[in-house]
Amino acid sequence: MNDKNVIVGLDIGTTKVCTIVGLVHPQPNAMDHVEIIGIGTHPSHGLKKGSVVNIEKTVKSIQNSLEEARLMSGVNIDRATIGVAGSHIYSFNSSGVVAVKGQEITQEDVDRVLEAAKAVVIPSDRETIHVIPQEFRVDNTSGIKDPVGMCGVRLEAHVHIVTGSISLIQNLIKCVEATGIQAEHITLQPIASSRSVLSAEEKDMGVVLVDIGGGTTDIAIWKDGSLVHSQIIPVGGNHFTNDLAVALKIPHAEAERIKINHGSVLAEKLNQSAHITVQGLAGTKAREVQLSLIAQVLGARAEELFGIIKNVIDERGLDHDITGGVVLTGGGALIKGLQELGEYLVERPTKIGYPAPFGGMTNLMQNPKFSTVLGLMLESRDRNTFTFKQPQVVENQSDLIGRLSDSLKSVFKEIF
Ligand SMILES: Nc1ncnc2c1ncn2[C@@H]1O[C@H](COP(=O)(O)OP(=O)(O)OP(=O)(O)O)[C@@H](O)[C@H]1O
Ligand SMILES: [Mg+2]
Repeated sequence: MNDKNVIVGLDIGTTKVCTIVGLVHPQPNAMDHVEIIGIGTHPSHGLKKGSVVNIEKTVKSIQNSLEEARLMSGVNIDRATIGVAGSHIYSFNSSGVVAVKGQEITQEDVDRVLEAAKAVVIPSDRETIHVIPQEFRVDNTSGIKDPVGMCGVRLEAHVHIVTGSISLIQNLIKCVEATGIQAEHITLQPIASSRSVLSAEEKDMGVVLVDIGGGTTDIAIWKDGSLVHSQIIPVGGNHFTNDLAVALKIPHAEAERIKINHGSVLAEKLNQSAHITVQGLAGTKAREVQLSLIAQVLGARAEELFGIIKNVIDERGLDHDITGGVVLTGGGALIKGLQELGEYLVERPTKIGYPAPFGGMTNLMQNPKFSTVLGLMLESRDRNTFTFKQPQVVENQSDLIGRLSDSLKSVFKEIF
């Protein structure tokens, strides 16, 4: 097997570290050109709210996850694309303008205008993680995605800039490199999740991706195919579990079990007489608890989270731009009733976002908790050159459908 065609995504989450090994095939067909050949997941103990707080424990979790993926795939892993999140992330939009040198805009002009757009003062303890072009304007024409080859005298770029704490990012890289592999690229986690979950059409229409992890909820808002806002909210699935543990006076592990197996956020939909038996804290007896009480506790936290999400949309003036609705992903999206409650509270169509299927172990990966790691693997594919001509296909089925609909749109435009 040619290791050069191997791509690796490494998601270092608050609850789990996950490695996915993909193989890029030389003779692709439309869907199967990336085949998943190895998965390694291991509980994560060294992170809090998305940031490393214990190097030793984090390194151990990464090592275990890599080892499992190595064994399953049979390939040597020497580099991976990793994700970053945590409340130290701060994103904003910026713009820059340059005069076009020749008659036609060249790649060099584009590079210059992007440099101009990112020339903003950021605090010395922060570094830029992404500068993502949203649109270019040539003279008075806006909404241009690729200006190379166009004529004009004035080139303007609008970009989304993501920054993070230098030391927290260094800690993450340090943990990865301590396992003997190289962090080939760092991607903001909700951008990675968007890649594996959202279709091009949804990004065009305007959509809010909400990745509810264990320690954080990561937001990416897309409009006209561009990222217009990203944010990390320090509330995740663990907070739902902690609320249950405190309210019912039960151990954390028992609260997690109850949340996953019996939890809901819609108390009014439950039979008021339904009960379950819960294990108390050490030294106390098991007892009966009403399911509707559990749902009240979880529902209160869900209301808080959706309230924050609604505020983010309103504060950014994006209220009328989200026609594609809200897509919930990450393991926390699986709490029962969350989608219905979200639809009601955010007042937008809401669905659970599953990663689009690949070749290989697709069934195993069809879980929202793998959205980030699959997106990181795709990022790794795009940043590497392979030993054959790159296929023309897009990375997943939903993007393919999105592009298909774009081309259909242009056909309709031509007809009418
Ligand atoms: N079936 C389920 N029902 C309810 N909650 C679930 C389910 N499965 C997983 N979860 C919750 O999802 C959360 C973990 O999600 P995920 O694996 O996406 O997080 P992570 O990537 O480790 O964390 P983060 O992204 O915050 O760093 C946990 O709080 C867990 O309780
Ligand atoms: Mg995560």
